[in-house]
Amino acid sequence: MPTNQNRFPRSAADGGFSWRCRRKLSKREWTIIGAAAAFSVLVLIISPILVSRTYTSTNTNTNSGAASEWVPLTILSKGQENSAFCLDGSLPGYHIRRGLGSGSDSWLLHVEGGGWCNTISSCSARKRTKLGSSTYMEPEVQFLGILNHDPLQNPDFFNWNKVKIRYCDGSSFSSHPENEFKNGTKLFFRGQLIWDTLMDELLSIGMSKARQALLTGCSAGGLATLIHCDDFRNLLPKDANVKCLADAGFFLNEKDIAGKHTIESFYHEVVNLQGVAKSLNHECLARSEPSKCFFPQEFIGNIKTPVFLVQPAYDFWQIANILVPDSSDPTGSWLRCKLNILHCNSSQLEVLHGYRNSLLKTLSGFHKNPEGGVFVNSCFVHCQTWVAETWHSPSSPRINSKTVAESVGDWYFKREAAIHIDCPFPCNPTCYHRDLTFG
Ligand SMILES: *[C@@H]1O[C@H](CO)[C@@H](O)[C@H](O)[C@H]1NC(C)=O
Ligand SMILES: *[C@@H]1O[C@H](CO)[C@@H](O)[C@H](O)[C@H]1NC(C)=O
Repeated sequence: MPTNQNRFPRSAADGGFSWRCRRKLSKREWTIIGAAAAFSVLVLIISPILVSRTYTSTNTNTNSGAASEWVPLTILSKGQENSAFCLDGSLPGYHIRRGLGSGSDSWLLHVEGGGWCNTISSCSARKRTKLGSSTYMEPEVQFLGILNHDPLQNPDFFNWNKVKIRYCDGSSFSSHPENEFKNGTKLFFRGQLIWDTLMDELLSIGMSKARQALLTGCSAGGLATLIHCDDFRNLLPKDANVKCLADAGFFLNEKDIAGKHTIESFYHEVVNLQGVAKSLNHECLARSEPSKCFFPQEFIGNIKTPVFLVQPAYDFWQIANILVPDSSDPTGSWLRCKLNILHCNSSQLEVLHGYRNSLLKTLSGFHKNPEGGVFVNSCFVHCQTWVAETWHSPSSPRINSKTVAESVGDWYFKREAAIHIDCPFPCNPTCYHRDLTFG
C-alpha cells in the first residue's frame, strides 16, 4: 500500500498555531519552549511514518490501495485573471473525480484543513509549505473515506462528483486583500477570492446543474464549510437538495486550563491580520465583534441550510490547542495525556469531561433544529470523514451501532433521526483513539 502523507492531519502542521509572546521570557522558559519546539518537529517528522505503520498493521483489508484512488491536482488557472492566489502568490488547486451514473448530477466538495496563521511571521512560514503554496502540494492525493468511489467504503456518496479543495490561504477561505501590507511583505490574503473563483469554475463544469450537493470539510476546512454554507447553497438550483457537513470544525470558545482566553486571542489575531470580517455571518456581525463570529457557536444558529456536525467530544486538536495549549502547561505535565488519552490520570480526565460538557451545552440549542444533525462521539481523534478507518469500516467508531458514514447518510437522505450523542469516555468500545506518541 502506498503511504499517503496526506492521510492524516499531522499534529503540528494541522495546528498552524504560533504563539506571540507578549512579555520577555526567562532563560528557563526559553529552554522549555526550545524543548517543546524540538519535540514538535520530531512529532511532525515521525508521526506520518508511525501512523501509517499502525494503520497498515491493523487495517490492511479496509484501506487497501486497490480500493481507493489517486487523483491528480488541478491548478485553478482562472485564479490568474481573478488574482486569486495562495499566500505566496501561486495559483490554488483542487482534485476532482467526476461522478458516474445516478451520481453524475450530485456534487460533494471536501475542504482541506490545516489551522490558520495569525501573524506576519507565521503566515510567511506557511507560505513555504503546501498550506500556503501550490508549489509544495502533492501532485496527486488518495481519495479515502467520504471521497472514496467504492460503495463498500462509502455507501451513499461513492458515485458522486467529488472535489477535494486544497487549502492555501490560512484563513478558512475568508481573507481579503485590503489587509495585505503594501510595504514590502509579500503575503496574499485572497481566501474569499479563491473560494469565489473555485465555485465559478465548478459551476461552469457541471455543478450549476446539481440536483444534490454536500459541502464538507474537516478542521479549518470544517469551519470554512460553516462560514460558506449558505452562500454555497445560494449558488445552486433552488430545487436541489443542498446540505453542509462540518467535521471537527466546531472550535469551542473556551478558556485554557490556566484561565487564559488563548483561542479567543488567537482568532482575534487571525481575523484582524487577514481582514476576515467581510466573509462572516452578517447577523452575527450585527451583534458581536468580528473575531467572535469566527466561532461556529456564534453563528451556527443563523445558518439557514441544513448542517450536520461530526465532532469528537475529546478532539485531540482542541485539547492540545484550546484547552491545554503549551503556554498553559509550562511544566509539561499534560504532555503524555495530550498525546494519548489512555495516559491521562483521573484529574486530567475530569478536565476533559468538563470540556465535553461545555461542548454538549453549547450544542444544546443547535440539536433542537429539526434539519440539523450531530455525531458527537467520545473518541480521541480529530478528522473522521476523510479517513477510511473512521468513516465506514469494521473498526469505525459507532454510536447506536451506526458508523459516521451511516449517520451522515441517514441525515442527508432523511432516513432516520440524526442526533447521535455518545456516552462519556471510556464507555464506547468502538472508539478509534489516536495515539500520537512515538511508540
Ligand atoms: C508596514 O508598515 C507599518 C507601519 O510602519 C508597520 O506597522 C507594519 O508592521 C509593516 N508591515 C510589515 C509587514 O512590515
Ligand atoms: C495527575 O497529573 C497531574 C499532572 O502531572 C498532577 O498534578 C495530578 O496530581 C495527578 N492527579 C492524580 C489524581 O494522580
